[in-house]
Amino acid sequence: MKHLIASAAMLTSLVSAGPLPLIPLPVTMKTAEGSFDFSPDTAIRFDRSLQNEADLLAADLQTLGAAKPKTVPAEQKILLPSEIRLLLDASADLPASGYKLVIAEGGVVVTGKDAAGVYYGTRSILQLLPAEGDPAWKDDAPEKLPALEIIDYPRFAWRGMMLDVGRHFNPPGDVKHFIDWMAFHKLNVFHWHLTDDQGWRIEIKKYPKLTETGAWRDSSPPYGNRNSDDHQRHGGFYTQEEIKEVVAYASARHITIVPEIEMPGHAAAAIASYPEFGNSDISGYAPRVQTRWGVHPYIFAPKEETFRFLEDVLTEVCALFPSKFIHIGGDEAPKGQWEQSPTAQQVMKREGLKNEEELQSWFVGRIGKFLESKDRRLIGWDEIQEGGLSKTATMMVWRDAKWAKHALALGNDVVMATNSDLYFDHYQAPATAELAKGSEYEAIGGYLPIEKVYAYNPTSVAETPEQEKHILGTQAQLWAEYSKDMKKVEYMAFPRMAALAEVAWTPLARKNFDDFRSRLDGVMNHYEGGHLNFARPTPSPAKGADK
Ligand code: ACM
Repeated sequence: MKHLIASAAMLTSLVSAGPLPLIPLPVTMKTAEGSFDFSPDTAIRFDRSLQNEADLLAADLQTLGAAKPKTVPAEQKILLPSEIRLLLDASADLPASGYKLVIAEGGVVVTGKDAAGVYYGTRSILQLLPAEGDPAWKDDAPEKLPALEIIDYPRFAWRGMMLDVGRHFNPPGDVKHFIDWMAFHKLNVFHWHLTDDQGWRIEIKKYPKLTETGAWRDSSPPYGNRNSDDHQRHGGFYTQEEIKEVVAYASARHITIVPEIEMPGHAAAAIASYPEFGNSDISGYAPRVQTRWGVHPYIFAPKEETFRFLEDVLTEVCALFPSKFIHIGGDEAPKGQWEQSPTAQQVMKREGLKNEEELQSWFVGRIGKFLESKDRRLIGWDEIQEGGLSKTATMMVWRDAKWAKHALALGNDVVMATNSDLYFDHYQAPATAELAKGSEYEAIGGYLPIEKVYAYNPTSVAETPEQEKHILGTQAQLWAEYSKDMKKVEYMAFPRMAALAEVAWTPLARKNFDDFRSRLDGVMNHYEGGHLNFARPTPSPAKGADK
């Protein structure tokens, strides 16, 4: 009985007090008197094409702590005592991925412009319910959903998170769990950084040594001393079957996986596996899977055998990933080996290329044409434009905003992923405070508190409305040199991912950090319930602090 009273009080407070714990903040929201009683009698009635969204909602409600709701196709005209209705209305006056959510005493209705919109509407419902493990789920009282009407749609089509599994491998189950939490925040692009100097993580049938050799390294720097070695073998890779499973899992949650295969640089693991595709005509050539972080000299040779190899790899990659965009890396490719290599120099002469930067652009251009022949689009880090940018390439801007301005002036598409605002491998609290907790709190460096992520505006680089249209969206990066396992990844990702979600989804004019911070407390209850290892930001700032 005491239990009942306590949870009733909690529910009242959810309904009546404070901002609703919705992140990202919806475009419009009107609250009303009253509430809907979500109870074990509540079923999900769905339009036939929304079976996936209905099944996922039922499963997610069960994970929170509800009795698994019945799912009923709309054409089954049975009477339900209480229902959440999922409707698809392609003619609704909403942008792509938009939804309307109406919660009233008599029922809950989610109307989506498309299935993604319906899915996002269901995410909002989940955020409004008690978190997993909340005692409220255990008593007999229904959960109260506050009466309201939301009309909502995303600001950007690309709302991404990048995870680097090259530096440290995360098993498929961990990746799926990460994808669940991206979905919770209405993010929709998972950029999977699958290859790097320290590891190749994707099975390629035609080139088995990529994973026999390239997926393993003999040592890594331990936490707390980046210039030393732990002498422990580290590695792992995803089989093609595992990749297909993760792609399908993400797709069901309206998340596109953009795979990244790094070239021409960050390629030491690949070149160690197949030394013939590196610059083998230089002196001292001895490629190996790297055991220290940083930038390494091994880059692919610009020769025909290498292009055949890369095209074969990309053919298998395209068969596994339906994403229109394929990321080819392109960052931090030192040009020293091309300067030394007679073969690379001959290619430059043959193609009339003035310098090694132009050779890289030529290299990327060839790969871009190949991807176009497969009806895909090339995206790469901003270095891909240093020797000229192909008209069709999309640039992921990680360095200075000037690179975005340059690409936008040329009419190219960009995704904003700047290291100053969106590198979640940077410290979120002062380094001294983090390191005082233990060397496992080490980060690469930098300082990126959640306030700074929240303040980011991806369109600040656009000079005209036309340029703004070429900013596809934005994403945060989880480089993993200093994240040896998923628990550390989570610590770096959350709650900054919540700030990213609002940057990527909510209209600029609606953003307000204090308001976000107070909603975040409710969202962090979900993190806690879901056993996420998140960092606790400083408490909500005092009311009246400006933003
Ligand atoms: C990068 O941080 N090298 C893209």
